[in-house]
Amino acid sequence: MSSKQVVLITGSSTGFGRLFTETLARKGHTVFATMRDPGGRNAKNASEIRALAEKESLPVHVLEMDVTDDGSVERGVEAAVAKAGRIDVAINNAGYFLTGLEEAVTTEQARRLMDTNFLGPVRVNRAVLPHMRRQRSGVIMHISSGAGRVILPSAGFYCASKFALEALAEAYSYELAGQGIESVIVEPGAYETPVFGNTVTAADEGRTNTYGAVKEIPAKVNGALSSRAGNAQEVADAVLRIVETPAGEKQLRYYVAPQNFGVEEINALTKQIQAKVLEGFGLAADTKFVRGKAAGAF
Ligand SMILES: NC(=O)c1ccc[n+]([C@@H]2O[C@H](COP(=O)([O-])OP(=O)(O)OC[C@H]3O[C@@H](n4cnc5c(N)ncnc54)[C@H](OP(=O)(O)O)[C@@H]3O)[C@@H](O)[C@H]2O)c1
Repeated sequence: MSSKQVVLITGSSTGFGRLFTETLARKGHTVFATMRDPGGRNAKNASEIRALAEKESLPVHVLEMDVTDDGSVERGVEAAVAKAGRIDVAINNAGYFLTGLEEAVTTEQARRLMDTNFLGPVRVNRAVLPHMRRQRSGVIMHISSGAGRVILPSAGFYCASKFALEALAEAYSYELAGQGIESVIVEPGAYETPVFGNTVTAADEGRTNTYGAVKEIPAKVNGALSSRAGNAQEVADAVLRIVETPAGEKQLRYYVAPQNFGVEEINALTKQIQAKVLEGFGLAADTKFVRGKAAGAF
């Protein structure tokens, strides 16, 4: 495989996804920068990315992909494979933050959040994995969060969506290792992106208003997160390093943050515990990385 990778990124219109696109393409990796509605709500973002690609001769292609729509995801992946012949890395980045007291989050808000933050990666992985399994190589990357490992009040649903993503990504890593495919989790702390402006607020104000002083927690949490936010390029640089790490040498989890509240310790401890669990279930050999060799169907 060439050291230059073919990378598909979701949610490339702004923030991390946009920075990943620019950072990877400037190192010569071919990037399919996907976003929803590049001809409408994201027309300005799409044309800025295309203009930059033209100006700097970057290998970037903008494609439409709404991660909540099976057909849109399948069409985007097929278009990338038709153009580049393969996908080496799929970066599940699209997502958003939901803030508010948990009781004030409606079931419809919870359903929508999971549809993007959790089912989005489910759709993307199901669309790219048949190609990666044929290739006997590839990386599915999941942009989780420190909030995929620790919990803040007023962020319970967001944490739940990222905890769910972490569980899925870890199970995938065990199932795909024997076929030469890596599943990787990136856990950013708070970084300056449009995420705070795009945050959805718990809709049931009537319930929030019955919580007394506790109803101030969401504002405290959001204020602390945005005041501590670091430079998002740090995360893009980390993603570049991961993409350029040879197959079989990547970690399952990468915590990247301006502060460490103990997430690295959680990751180190769960790594040991998971190894014991796999050993205890007699699965250690089945879940080991095997370079470029298919253990499965194809
Ligand atoms: N910034 C942080 O501090 C931080 C920390 C930890 C984790 N994260 C995670 O990082 C990821 C990127 O967030 P960001 O900080 O870069 O914020 P952002 O600038 O708001 O980016 C979010 C991206 O997701 C896209 N998106 C939302 N729903 C989508 C859908 N249905 N289909 C396709 N794309 C969709 C948005 O596209 P539109 O332009 O179409 O809305 C946007 O491109 C998210 O998963 C977030 O949870 C962020």
